Amino acid sequence: MILILNGSPRPNGLTAQMILALRIGAEKAGQEVRQFDVCRMNVRGCTACEYCHTKGNGRCVQADDMQEIYPLLRQAETLVLASPIYYHNISGQLKCVIDRFYAALYPDKPEPLRRAVMLLASGDTDVYDGALFSLAGDFAGYLELETKAFTAHGDAVPEETLREIREYGKSL
Ligand SMILES: Cc1cc2nc3c(=O)[nH]c(=O)nc-3n(C[C@H](O)[C@H](O)[C@H](O)COP(=O)(O)O)c2cc1C
Repeated sequence: MILILNGSPRPNGLTAQMILALRIGAEKAGQEVRQFDVCRMNVRGCTACEYCHTKGNGRCVQADDMQEIYPLLRQAETLVLASPIYYHNISGQLKCVIDRFYAALYPDKPEPLRRAVMLLASGDTDVYDGALFSLAGDFAGYLELETKAFTAHGDAVPEETLREIREYGKSL
């Protein structure tokens, strides 16, 4: 199963276009795809209470919409983090969701999880270092996942990039 976390509030922006391309490819190949538009959800930041790593036994104490994401995070083989670049990193809404992974991915990641994919949209070129550093460090490094990233900037995603994302989606 492919779990897509969409960190863009714009329904027809560049992030949405890239997500659609990945979905088309993956669904054509018969993959199950689940998507959460996290900007429309109520997910608060991690409070570092450590309940999840003590009494909670992997369960987060906060009763918000993150509770809908946790069960799928535990089943997903591929995690897609899709986001606009805001001030050289992913959106704050998606960052809150990732911080809340603390309960589910640490210290041990769920067995099915194999890879993390980033789809990043921006106004300028060459503004991806912050987001890619986090992908390489937290996801590829600590969790030992394969990673892949696609980027697009400006007013529209080039057709060539959409084609590459569709093909990648098919390969999953
Ligand atoms: C709060 C905010 C901060 C932004 N910061 C950056 C930035 O640091 N670098 C950049 O290239 N674009 C920046 N942008 C532009 C967005 O990354 C760009 O419009 C992108 O296409 C948005 O993705 P979307 O089309 O999926 O909404 C920013 C936009 C907003 C609203």
